Amino acid sequence: MIGKTILTGVKPTGAPHIGNYVGAIRPALALSAAHENSYLFIADYHALNAVHDPSALRKDNYQVAAAWLALGIDPERTAFYRQSDIPEIFELATLLSTVTPKGLMDRAHSYKAAMDKNREANRDVDADVNMGLYTYPILMAADILAMQSDMVPVGKDQVQHIEFARDMAGYFNNTFTPVFKLPKHQLEKEGSLLPGLDGRKMSKSYNNHIPVFMDKNARKKLVMKIVTDSKLPEEPKNPDENTIFQLYSHFADADKINSMRKAFENGGMGYGDAKKLLLEALEKTFENPTQLYNEYMADTSRIDDLLAKGAEKARKTAHETLSKAREAVGLKPLR
Ligand code: ADP
Ligand code: TRP
Repeated sequence: MIGKTILTGVKPTGAPHIGNYVGAIRPALALSAAHENSYLFIADYHALNAVHDPSALRKDNYQVAAAWLALGIDPERTAFYRQSDIPEIFELATLLSTVTPKGLMDRAHSYKAAMDKNREANRDVDADVNMGLYTYPILMAADILAMQSDMVPVGKDQVQHIEFARDMAGYFNNTFTPVFKLPKHQLEKEGSLLPGLDGRKMSKSYNNHIPVFMDKNARKKLVMKIVTDSKLPEEPKNPDENTIFQLYSHFADADKINSMRKAFENGGMGYGDAKKLLLEALEKTFENPTQLYNEYMADTSRIDDLLAKGAEKARKTAHETLSKAREAVGLKPLR
């Protein structure tokens, strides 16, 4: 068991697809299981910068929580909570903003991307940019620093945010006294980018995804839709250019993956048969989780109870950190 503290946040963007599972959920579950102290939370306040539909936010929150629970997060070991249940995080964000230069926020990729988009559309650079988006990295730093995290597993697009959190911890520690641990990012493995039904990167925004949770028939229909070329079964094919094989290689056992690879290379593996094998592997992986997911979604009070317990655990740490930070700047420590 690794003694470091690991933390990650997920934005509530609804039920995951199998690309999210392989690229983000499965590795985070493995890391949580391997670390003594682990925190996993739903970043609902971060989502609020973009989602202004209360019922959509509520539903997305439950779907994401149910997904992680169904896929194996152990809430006894990992503090699993909603960001919005930890008020200490928000006070800490205010404290951090007093030592964070505005220039740092101006350099944030997400803010720059929003400005670029506006420029392209000939609009004011700050059109539709709310302060929540602008100060997104400060809240994220508070998420991370509140729990005294050592390691934050994230995708490439989030690396800058972790560097910013480290910078802010440094500004604070140097201005006052050392209160915060300096966190590091841990990058999700390259090479685990799954293609979607049409061969492009699997993404909700391309609508080419295979959801993790679905009934057998719906899953079968989607797998049958995977686009292939028109090579005949007996023709040799390159498995590395083949969506079915790429997907299969993340879900089947090593010897089965190897035999599909050989069969494609040598000729004799038709796309129809390969799809059947892929379907079997997906069913084996996701049948039980789908049932669990449906059970959680049918009784969301169970989710609320579990998240409340997680919040209790996380608040203890956040409370201690905030109290130290308050004391460091000359405010009254908390009781
Ligand atoms: P989407 O593109 O479907 O909106 P997100 O951008 O919300 O997905 O991604 C959430 C997480 O899932 C990220 O950590 C990202 O790295 C991972 N992820 C998304 N799509 C894939 C994919 N096709 N293959 C592997 N991982 C992915
Ligand atoms: N910004 C992250 C994302 O979009 C979610 C997030 C919020 C997060 N706070 C965090 C991730 C703290 C890691 C640590 O995916």
